[in-house]
Amino acid sequence: MILEGGSAIVTGGAGGFGEETVRRLIEAGMKVVIADLAVERGKALAEDLGDAAVFVETDVTDEESVGDAVAAATAMGPLRVAVIVHGGSAARARVVDRDGRTYGLARFRKTIDVFLSGTFNVLSQAAAAMVKNEPLESGQRGVVITTASIAGFEGAPGQTDYSAAKGGVIAMNLTAARDLAPVGVRVMSIAPGTFFTPAYGIEESEAQAKFGPGVPNPKRMGRAAEYASLALQIAENDYLNGEVIRIDGAQRFNVR
Ligand SMILES: NC(=O)c1ccc[n+]([C@@H]2O[C@H](COP(=O)([O-])OP(=O)(O)OC[C@H]3O[C@@H](n4cnc5c(N)ncnc54)[C@H](O)[C@@H]3O)[C@@H](O)[C@H]2O)c1
Repeated sequence: MILEGGSAIVTGGAGGFGEETVRRLIEAGMKVVIADLAVERGKALAEDLGDAAVFVETDVTDEESVGDAVAAATAMGPLRVAVIVHGGSAARARVVDRDGRTYGLARFRKTIDVFLSGTFNVLSQAAAAMVKNEPLESGQRGVVITTASIAGFEGAPGQTDYSAAKGGVIAMNLTAARDLAPVGVRVMSIAPGTFFTPAYGIEESEAQAKFGPGVPNPKRMGRAAEYASLALQIAENDYLNGEVIRIDGAQRFNVR
C-alpha cells in the first residue's frame, strides 16, 4: 500500500514501540496522530516532529476519546494506517497467592479493558473511517495493525489477565480481517517477545542482563526499532492479511 499522502493513528504513540512507529510512518510520508494518555511525552514528541504529527490526548477505553483521535487523523488526510500499541506493562500476580488470596475480578477486568476492549475500540473506529476512503489503485483502503504478545500464546506465571487479553487480540485478528475484507481493509497483529522499552521502568543494562539471556538468538532483548520496521513492512505489503507475526528471537517463555 502506498503510504505517502495518507494519515495514520498510533495509540500509545508516546510509548516505546509507539514513538519509533510514529517516526517511521512520518519518514514514509504520512501525517500521524499520536494518541496517548501521556500528555507531557505526547506533546513533546509532536513538537519535535513538527507539522507531520499532532498529539491528541486519548484514552483507548473511551469511545468518544478514540472518536476524537480518529477525527483528528482524517482531518490530516485519508486514514490509511492504524497501529494499536498502547498499554505498557501489566503487574503480575498469580491466580492464588501464597496466602491463598486471588487478585480479584477488578484487576482482571481492567487489564481486559485496556488491552483487549481498547484494541477493539480503536480497530472498529479506525476501520469505520477507512471505509470512507477512496480505494487506492490496488483496491485497498487501509490497514489496522494490533499488538498482541507471545504471552497471548504462552503466558508466564502471574499473567492470566494479560495472557487472556492478548489471546483475545490474537483470536480476533483473522475474524476482523475476514469482516473487513469486502471493504479493502487489512488486519494484522504483531506478537512481540521481550523488547526493551520504558514499560520496564529500569535501565537498559539492567533489563538486558535480566531478560537478554532468555532469548535464543539474538541473545538480547528486542529493539523498538525492530517492531517499527515490521509495522512498516506490514503497512506496505498488501498480501499480509489476517496473520499474527511473532517477533521474538525464537523466545518461548520457560516455566521452572
Ligand atoms: N515491551 C515489550 O516487551 C512488549 C512485549 C509484548 C507486547 N508488548 C505490548 O506492546 C504495547 C506497547 O508496549 P511498550 O513496551 O511500548 O510500552 P510503553 O509503556 O513504552 O508504552 C505504552 C504507551 O501506552 C500508553 N497508554 C497506556 N494506557 C493507555 C490508554 N488507556 N489509552 C491510551 N494510551 C495508553 C502509555 O501512556 C504509554 O505511552 C503494549 O500493548 C504491550 O503489551 C510489549
